[in-house]
Amino acid sequence: MATVVDHVGVVHLVVTRHALVRQVLADPVTFRPDNALDAVTPLPVAALRVLAEHRFRLPPTLANNGGASHPEIRGIVADALHPTRVAAQRPWLTGLVRERVVRLRAALDGGVPVDLYADLAADLPLLVLARLVELPDAPVGAVKEFARAALELFWAPLDEARQLALAAEVGRFHTVLRGFAATGGGLAARLRAAGHPPDVVVGALFFLLVAGQETTSQFLTLLLHRLTGEPAVRAGLRDGSVAVADVVEEGLRLEPPIVTWRRVAAVDATLGGTTVPAGTGMVLWLARAGRDPDVVPAPDEFRPGQRGSRRHLAFGAGAHRCVGAQLARLEAAVVVAEAAPLLDGVRVVRPPWYPDNLTFRMPDAFVVARP
Ligand code: HEM
Repeated sequence: MATVVDHVGVVHLVVTRHALVRQVLADPVTFRPDNALDAVTPLPVAALRVLAEHRFRLPPTLANNGGASHPEIRGIVADALHPTRVAAQRPWLTGLVRERVVRLRAALDGGVPVDLYADLAADLPLLVLARLVELPDAPVGAVKEFARAALELFWAPLDEARQLALAAEVGRFHTVLRGFAATGGGLAARLRAAGHPPDVVVGALFFLLVAGQETTSQFLTLLLHRLTGEPAVRAGLRDGSVAVADVVEEGLRLEPPIVTWRRVAAVDATLGGTTVPAGTGMVLWLARAGRDPDVVPAPDEFRPGQRGSRRHLAFGAGAHRCVGAQLARLEAAVVVAEAAPLLDGVRVVRPPWYPDNLTFRMPDAFVVARP
């Protein structure tokens, strides 16, 4: 554990060891999730005004909800993402990825570079999510822009001009969500029927549209990039000695799209022998916990199926553990099974670039070509 002062002078307790991160996540009474969606760079009055014009609010709903309404809201979202409904998407998703892989292979064979983020990973999770949860009828590009703007606005170090631009972008889409939350069917209708106020319905849709698709497209890109440098793993996939599911887990352990997650101490507490005063903001370094040598024998090596590989905390743990884990795993498994062979013999033309962000990786492109 270390005490770190951030870019605006706020002090955080950073927790890296697997056992301690797990302990915090498993105890939402002592370490509450209330600060999960707080802006890392406090929003200036001008940006707050822009958001207020769009009636933007993020009440405790899912990830930031330590209150009594959490189990019921979570239950309704979990029903929409029930493992049976998720598994039923596999044939459709496989068909879609296969089609894309055929096109990408033809381009590579013809000497044309391809962007595995833009041309394969970016929109897949949103397309799948839209089959499971009724969403506002908005173009894929508009949702992606809004989601990325939200991840930047709440989790990046920013100057005021950028905050204003992002607040306008996030606010605009929030208005669309508010309209849909009032009249939309499916999940929105079920939340309304259970008596949850409009702000909560908007909050749930907001979180799903951000967490439920952006994270997964980031992960698919990170994993494909990692596999490009792991020829032995690809050979194992080819000859069947390495299981796709094990590759996905090792990918989540080593390349999680969500690097850190936050909690706040609700009372004076002790963690690993250190006193944690009430009110301490805690940054749980999920990515680092995945490389804890107490948990995995070869922490930095991509060894699918190694002991401890599945004990990563990429999806969090406890009462707030990711509800979409099954869906994210399915998407990654299909992409690895179908697209890993594309990586044989490619050269990386442009590795992903990652902007400065406390929590999300946000790759911008991943271009490969055949020499
Ligand atoms: C690789 C992709 C993903 C990663 C790494 C990821 C990771 C996480 C993490 C770290 C949390 C916080 C857990 C905690 O506080 O203990 C979380 C929460 C959540 N995630 Fe995911 N997630 C992914 C994909 C998804 C998908 C596809 C969906 C839905 C379609 C989703 C929906 C949610 C929801 C609703 C929560 C809040 C749960 C609650 O507070 O009860 N996530 N996720």
